[in-house]
Amino acid sequence: MPLRSLHAAAVLLLVVLKEQPSNPTPHNGSKWTYIVKLKLPKDMHIQGLGARYNASQLHLHWGDENEPHGSEHTVGGKQFAAELHMVYYNSDLYPNASIASDKPEGLAVLAVLIEMGSFNPSYDKIFSHLKDVKYKGQEVSIPGFSIEELLPKRPEEYYRYRGSLTTPPCYPTVLWTVFRNPVEISQQQLTDLETALYCTRVEDPSPREMIHNFRQVQKFDERLVYVSFRHEGIALFVALAGVLGICIVLAVSIWLFRRKKSSKKVANKGVIYKPAVKQDAEAHA
Ligand SMILES: *[C@@H]1O[C@H](CO)[C@@H](O)[C@H](O)[C@H]1NC(C)=O
Ligand SMILES: *[C@@H]1O[C@H](CO)[C@@H](O)[C@H](O)[C@H]1NC(C)=O
Ligand SMILES: *[C@@H]1O[C@H](CO)[C@@H](O)[C@H](O)[C@H]1NC(C)=O
Repeated sequence: MPLRSLHAAAVLLLVVLKEQPSNPTPHNGSKWTYIVKLKLPKDMHIQGLGARYNASQLHLHWGDENEPHGSEHTVGGKQFAAELHMVYYNSDLYPNASIASDKPEGLAVLAVLIEMGSFNPSYDKIFSHLKDVKYKGQEVSIPGFSIEELLPKRPEEYYRYRGSLTTPPCYPTVLWTVFRNPVEISQQQLTDLETALYCTRVEDPSPREMIHNFRQVQKFDERLVYVSFRHEGIALFVALAGVLGICIVLAVSIWLFRRKKSSKKVANKGVIYKPAVKQDAEAHA
């Protein structure tokens, strides 16, 4: 289980609204994307992935009020209202997340799918502070809480696969873990998230809302997805943060090679699916 050590998070977190270069994409759009990021405590880490992965940051993706569908992964073709990413880097091999982000085995991301439902007091520990970081460049410290609260029920049920960044050298740098079960937030909480932030600085005369900060599903490709639970024959499509074809081939080959090497000790429930692939998420650095 990758989640053993998440409880270490009861310290101050910092919300930073930061700009990040986005990958070149075929569609028009701003050159820059902006994420809310919560910096995570440096000594928080996850175990069970081979190497030690220390925490870097968490951030969210969402749509807008009229189209409240902003998850980057889809399951069974279903896109969710929003998605939370907790980003970790391989601290056995690299000094920090920015160095690790384009290196082999560099990053591990835990992804939580978010749907509309009942009020979520844990997520409100983040959302209630968004008003303090409405504009680019603003920062606020928020009281610590356990990151574990943000996980869905039965976190031992997840999909796992290796993904790459779109930019060369195309290493399979990101080990994705997408939890099977979504968490619920209320309609009001979702609206708050969708309307809270701007991509522009406070003094900018033409403010731009931060909405639709997720990547579109772009194409299908074949990819190995490890499923940690027995699923009931439901057609499963995991839309992946996307990758150029050659990167996929490389990632899958390495994955296959590794699995072959380690298949003796692990009871393997891996399944081949044909997931949707989309243009990559931001560099997660
Ligand atoms: C898309 O980009 C092109 C080239 O920069 C520009 O001419 C065009 O107006 C843009 N379209 C939209 C809808 O922004
Ligand atoms: C990573 O986490 C471990 C365990 O909490 C800690 O001892 C170590 O200093 C951290 N490494 C870095 C580079 O922050
Ligand atoms: C990451 O580590 C490199 C090498 O030690 C250092 O030059 C760089 O400033 C660090 N970046 C951050 C964001 O800490």
